[in-house]
Amino acid sequence: MTRVTVRPAVCCAWRKERGGGMPNRELLLIPGPTPVHDEIYEALAQETRSHTDPRFAAVLSDCLAYMRQLWNTDGEVFLFAGSGTLAMEMALVNTVAPGETLLVVSQGYFGDRFAEIGQAYGLRVEVVRSAWGEQVDPEMVRQALARGGVRAVTLTHVDTSTGVRADLATLVPVIKESGALCILDGVCATAAMEEDMRRPYGQPEWTLDVVLTASQKALGVPPGLGLVAFGPRALAARAALPRVPAYFLDIARWQPIMADPTRYFATPPVNMVYALHKGLQIALAEGWAARYARHERLGRAVRAALRQYGFRPLAEEAAAAPTLTCALCPEGVDEAAVRKQLAARGVVVAGGLAHLAGRAVRMGHMGNVRADQIAQALQQVGEVLQANGRPVPVQAAVSAFWQAYGEE
Ligand SMILES: Cc1ncc(COP(=O)(O)O)c(C=O)c1O
Repeated sequence: MTRVTVRPAVCCAWRKERGGGMPNRELLLIPGPTPVHDEIYEALAQETRSHTDPRFAAVLSDCLAYMRQLWNTDGEVFLFAGSGTLAMEMALVNTVAPGETLLVVSQGYFGDRFAEIGQAYGLRVEVVRSAWGEQVDPEMVRQALARGGVRAVTLTHVDTSTGVRADLATLVPVIKESGALCILDGVCATAAMEEDMRRPYGQPEWTLDVVLTASQKALGVPPGLGLVAFGPRALAARAALPRVPAYFLDIARWQPIMADPTRYFATPPVNMVYALHKGLQIALAEGWAARYARHERLGRAVRAALRQYGFRPLAEEAAAAPTLTCALCPEGVDEAAVRKQLAARGVVVAGGLAHLAGRAVRMGHMGNVRADQIAQALQQVGEVLQANGRPVPVQAAVSAFWQAYGEE
């Protein structure tokens, strides 16, 4: 394993200058986990109580209430130990029976994951795919749905492999017009982009049916929790299934616990629930609209700065995600070497996935990470490029960042 030399002094300096909040020794700008706020670490370190203790149950109940606010749902929410993948499984297994058809709308690696999960559960899976970096053509989705028999359609709000956002305003009406359920993977979007489950997309009853996420991205909480919301039509779909091919993931087993968290089905990760409780309170204090707007500004600002260095964001501006940027490296840049040197300066970014390995970097800019931290990281990117003999304009990039972000 490579030993990474961290430069605590860099991060401590940021912390002192900006009033604290992030004790992270390294600045984790991968697509998740994201930097964790001091107050969340403090919440995580509280005394572990019995999972049926009414004091813990009250905290879990609060989390569920906050989740209902986050997604503005009149359905039911579920919180459990697991990662985003398990949340994806929960969404599918409770809505589509083996042998029924699932249409996967894929804009990258994580869109494709729904197809693999569907196949593992014996669903008939059809996939409509875009080229990496592009949005799916809604006409192809319409045509796939016109063939009939599709029970549910999956969308990935932001595909973490490409930094492309799904065009919900166009796709959701196409899906709902067909009568299929609409399942949204919000793992790289929830709490940074609006996912309002009562928002009508064209017709009053055309709404998102299931939205899912995990704790470690735009919620800014360590990894370990799956969060899922089922709207009324998705709940009716589960109720109509005589059984589901799962035990832990069957929402019928969780419904009594979510209604009364002093009851037991499977032990919840008590300390992670404390952490989420604080994470959701931090997000609520910022306000959803402000948080979404801040992420839009951050995304624009990161892309503007990276362009100054010759990186090319894979997604067109209109399709680019506010949470994460996948950018092609300038010709001749050794991306692995750059990332290694950045890590030595305490800034951790990810490389490209699949055919983009060695050709692209992926930088997360979501959750509770501050704009000044990202600006510092972008300055470090420029300095590393300069150290490798590329005469990039560091100050111009940092200025482009602040100009696009909207404040100096
Ligand atoms: C969009 C998206 N969906 C699903 C997942 C899978 O989540 P996890 O790794 O928590 O299982 C990820 C992980 O990065 C993701 O980015």
